[in-house]
Amino acid sequence: MTNIFAIVLAAGQGTRMKSKLYKVLHPVCGKPMVEHVVDHIETLNVERIVTVVGHGADKVKEQLGDKSEYVLQAEQLGTAHAVQQAEEILGALEGTTLVVCGDTPLIRPETMKALFDFHTAQKAKATILTAVAENPTGYGRIIRNEGGQVAQIVEQKDATFEQQLVKEINTGTYCFDNKALFETLKLVGNDNAQGEYYLPDVIEILQKQGEIVSAYVTNDFDETLGVNDRFALSQAEELMRARINERHMRNGVTIINPATTHISTDAIIGSDTVLLPGVIIEGKTIIGEDCTIGPNSHIVDSKIGNGTTVHSSVVLNSTVGDVTAIGPFAHLRPESTLGNHVKIGNFVEVKKSTLGDDSKVSHLSYIGDAEVGSNVNIGCGSITVNYDGKNKHKTTIEDDVFVGCNTNLVAPITVRKGAFIAAGSTITKEVPEEALAIARARQENKLGYVNKLNSK
Ligand code: UD1
Ligand code: CA
Repeated sequence: MTNIFAIVLAAGQGTRMKSKLYKVLHPVCGKPMVEHVVDHIETLNVERIVTVVGHGADKVKEQLGDKSEYVLQAEQLGTAHAVQQAEEILGALEGTTLVVCGDTPLIRPETMKALFDFHTAQKAKATILTAVAENPTGYGRIIRNEGGQVAQIVEQKDATFEQQLVKEINTGTYCFDNKALFETLKLVGNDNAQGEYYLPDVIEILQKQGEIVSAYVTNDFDETLGVNDRFALSQAEELMRARINERHMRNGVTIINPATTHISTDAIIGSDTVLLPGVIIEGKTIIGEDCTIGPNSHIVDSKIGNGTTVHSSVVLNSTVGDVTAIGPFAHLRPESTLGNHVKIGNFVEVKKSTLGDDSKVSHLSYIGDAEVGSNVNIGCGSITVNYDGKNKHKTTIEDDVFVGCNTNLVAPITVRKGAFIAAGSTITKEVPEEALAIARARQENKLGYVNKLNSK
């Protein structure tokens, strides 16, 4: 949309969070609050997005990258002062400016768009997004005159007892005529309980100047939640979680217990996949169709094919094929790649390894820095001995190999196609194609020895 700009306020420390992490960087469903806000604005295709940074400026910039332009508010003198910092970028432009706080991650782009459309239809100089709160404590209150028009916004700390009873609140999201905004900001003072320059005062000033000032009331207070402390953070997390889960359920994913299912904003899940209780899906994870995930699985930044099961297991930054079974109690560490019809069973750890189609590691094994072909069977308790105390070494196991139980493969090592390793072997030399390798002490039976011992 041309001649439409956005300013995101993100310079505050967030004292009430009592945190070393700057407030707007606190994640909600895995994504920092301010990034939710910027991502939502991005979907509106505005011409420019300017984020006001201050506390933790470098960290905020690093997080948002080139999604936004930045201005620095060196001292946090209030929200009006924060917006004023954007004058150097936007001040001379004709158009409409959307202002959103970096601590309101739940406001949907649809609501911002509705606010903008209402503002345009009203031909207003300023329009605030308001909502009716069950408990308005902490928010600025919307004070309307007899005619029902917005007269002013009063902050909690400046409100009289009567004003505190008002349930209509300022969500901190506004549309302004851009020129009028920067003109009026010059007139805002700081004679109030907090000694700050309040952005909401722009509304009162414009109103008194006889300009059209309007309010767009959204009927969903939850969406406008401002996160100032950890309690509100937990509420935001719960609301966002419910929203994400609902989207997946409407797309054909079964979620048995949404209250215990955590899915990141950016995850993609195919239809007819079932998420059992206790599942956490983080980052840019992609899960195919017809999978069963859980109970109790944790999947981070991974790609899982179709028809695969991940039972009570951890999968980190890995790729898993179709109709593959993982767990219970397996651990796929970063950079692992599993083919189709693979089985990784209980108490198996795989690290930075590749396993081809139809290969199986069913119980109690460690596979690290290994390249395993297809149709390989690795018996219970087998280990790739990849670390000599200084360096990591590679194990190569070609197709159709059978590794007997309790085998140590001392890397660097190669086991050629179709080879067979006897149980209990410690393999230190290459095993040729289709050879039997046996590397263990021979068994000796001493007949009658037990009787002899007992008769002593
Ligand atoms: C603000 C509004 C209040 C509204 C509420 C909605 C003001 C004065 N009050 O209150 O009417 O109901 O949001 O959630 O605007 N910030 C800066 N620089 C500053 C101060 C703040 O960038 O100097 C940023 C903060 O990082 C934050 C946002 O502005 O993202 C809002 O500031 P905050 O202190 O949270 O304001 P509230 O007290 O919640
Ligand atoms: Ca706030």
